[in-house]
Amino acid sequence: MTGSIPPVFKNDLKDTFGQYTAEVRWPIILQNCIDDITKRLSNPAGDDENDDGHVLSVQDKQVGEQIKNDLQKLREQIKNKSHETKVPLFNKDEITKEQDLQVFNDYLNDYNNGKPESQKMTWKNGDWLFTEIYMYRRIHTFFMANESVAPYWCTFDIFNYLKQSTLKSSYFGVHELSKFYLQTIKPNLNKISESELEELYEEFITIALWGNATDLSLLTNATMDDIKAIQGSDSRKKNIEKILVNDSLKSWEYLKQKTASSASASGQKTKVDIVCDNSGFEVFSDLILALFLLDSNLVSTVEFHLKNLPYMVSDVMMKDVDLLLKDFESPVFFSQHSGNENTVDPVLYELSQCIKNHIKSGKIIFNSHRYWTSCADYWTLAPDSTDADGLEMYNYLAKTSSLVIFKGDLNYRKLTGDRQWPRTTSWKQSLGPLGQSKLPVLSLRTCKADVMVALPKGVDEKLCELWAKDNEHGSWWCTSGKWAVICFNA
Ligand code: F6P
Ligand code: MG
Repeated sequence: MTGSIPPVFKNDLKDTFGQYTAEVRWPIILQNCIDDITKRLSNPAGDDENDDGHVLSVQDKQVGEQIKNDLQKLREQIKNKSHETKVPLFNKDEITKEQDLQVFNDYLNDYNNGKPESQKMTWKNGDWLFTEIYMYRRIHTFFMANESVAPYWCTFDIFNYLKQSTLKSSYFGVHELSKFYLQTIKPNLNKISESELEELYEEFITIALWGNATDLSLLTNATMDDIKAIQGSDSRKKNIEKILVNDSLKSWEYLKQKTASSASASGQKTKVDIVCDNSGFEVFSDLILALFLLDSNLVSTVEFHLKNLPYMVSDVMMKDVDLLLKDFESPVFFSQHSGNENTVDPVLYELSQCIKNHIKSGKIIFNSHRYWTSCADYWTLAPDSTDADGLEMYNYLAKTSSLVIFKGDLNYRKLTGDRQWPRTTSWKQSLGPLGQSKLPVLSLRTCKADVMVALPKGVDEKLCELWAKDNEHGSWWCTSGKWAVICFNA
């Protein structure tokens, strides 16, 4: 590797989106959690529209109040004057329940080791990527704390209200895309030429890319029209020049070559892995990509890598996929937006059946490994990694996968180590050991954070100038979600 490795983004790095996030956005996210648990506690019957139907017991209520207190305390620590509070280690009990929290303690101990008290990690001066992930894992410990008395909370998803209501508002996007796939694409897949297949591959990669623009942590006040504007096919066409790096063709050529060589080695299967990001419209767009890859016989299996706990507000868990399929078959879920009272939407119903059939036949599989909610970045996803989970995941993917697609911004931050790279740094270099490894990596990211690499010379300068016309910080163009990149390395 040439050149030195820059430091990671920090919560106190002046005029960065990271600093703004730590100071302004985290307290808002925590307040939303507090509001949502308050809402759940005020309806013990759990029979509201997006509730789970569980009736809260006396213990559930007591533990619920405790969780609410814990959330309030955490918010206070992160906010305002107490922003300088040290980031605490996870205690023994927490680690017994979730053993991978040890990796967080190791990180903190390494960071603090040998530093004077005044320089130890606080919410204010901490590493942005680490403290952000830590915050979501800390929130989760509150829900796990009283497992024996109130197990209900251990599987409670504090972000569920938000996930479900945004899926509802995505009706226009999911309906349009389902119809397009079922009526225009699927019936023709066995008659199309190689070059048409290539074009469609690029189209579905682009759909999965912009699916990442629907992010609940950034879109909390979005209206139905805002969401429509992001999700429709017209908006994809309009935004083609907003894809600043586009390696989709390179990934297509790589995948074609892989499929050709496995076809000749008889019986060998081709698998594409998708390291997912958000629930709702985004995972739906990933499922559409999977349908295309499978129905066109390009690959034999698609494996979805999901989160094992509520994470980064909108990230998708197995239960969210189950709910999405259920919602697609429901006569009421979308009725407010579809205008069809108490009628199942036949298009969404059919799409749900297509997905379920592939799940039944084992062509779509799911995995929720704890590695995806670790604080470790993907420089640990490598053949000689000292991170046990990173090593295990690398070996698994290297052995079984023909292409690994990383969705979204947080995965991009983890791929590049969330470091302060010059924005023209090569994609390969920013990936560290993973870039030198054998794993084929495709990142589909709408840009929502400070880290940015692989830009052609002059592009950043131009966009900074453009953004500065209407915004305080020109360099924040790449935190707005309005631009995107498709980066490939093999
Ligand atoms: O703080 C910004 C942020 O919340 C990041 O944590 C994360 O990188 C991103 O936004 C979430 O976006 P995505 O869902 O695309 O990973
Ligand atoms: Mg996310």
